[in-house]
Amino acid sequence: MPDVRVLPADAWSRAVADAFVERLRAEPRLRVCLPTGDTPSPLYAELASRDVAGDVSFAQATVVLLDEWADLPPGDPARCDVRLRRELLDRLAPPPRFVAIDVDGSDDETAARAHDVAARELDLALLGLGMNGHVGFNEPGSRPEDPTRLARLAVSTREAAMARYGAAAMPSAGITIGLGRLLEARELWLLVTGARKASILRRTLRDPEGPDCPASYLRRHGRLIVFADEPAASLL
Ligand code: PGA
Repeated sequence: MPDVRVLPADAWSRAVADAFVERLRAEPRLRVCLPTGDTPSPLYAELASRDVAGDVSFAQATVVLLDEWADLPPGDPARCDVRLRRELLDRLAPPPRFVAIDVDGSDDETAARAHDVAARELDLALLGLGMNGHVGFNEPGSRPEDPTRLARLAVSTREAAMARYGAAAMPSAGITIGLGRLLEARELWLLVTGARKASILRRTLRDPEGPDCPASYLRRHGRLIVFADEPAASLL
């Protein structure tokens, strides 16, 4: 069973930030994969304020982006690189090295292959949990050995880009670090908040693993920590 840490909702971002700061202090050259989405936003606000306060420095770290829409224009507010810069990276001084996904310069296959190289040898990967059990853009049907690749998006994921993240148009595909690479990271943290995630978190952790819920494969990892708030953990 993974290490599941259940936290009061109003203490969640501070507690995860405490764990992250401790990790970064112990390993300043941390090579970490970061997601975007509503779940990590309060964590990033907390980490940015710790950086400003001088409690921690990202200067020697490398941040590798988890996923990116393949067909949103540069600067679109829903772009994962835009969000991560806005919510965290641009607020860090000095900033870490940032490895984005080159969806503007290269064709998709080339960009995915290059990012697959960057996704090797991660010390830590932080991941959000989709309402359909996806992690990154590893949608239902994904396999635990999948590499970084161009992936078709579930309708709910495409709709979220516009309805929840403010994209100017509906994207059709994304490039994501694959489950195979994520399972090779030294450590995984699954971040889950809110009552609406309670049932998919239960599915992820309690039912047999399977391609209908790609996040369930994360349980294969020997060092998976789930940071859930109380509403998200309410069905466990
Ligand atoms: P959310 O998205 O953090 O905005 O809920 C998570 C996901 O769909 O991966």
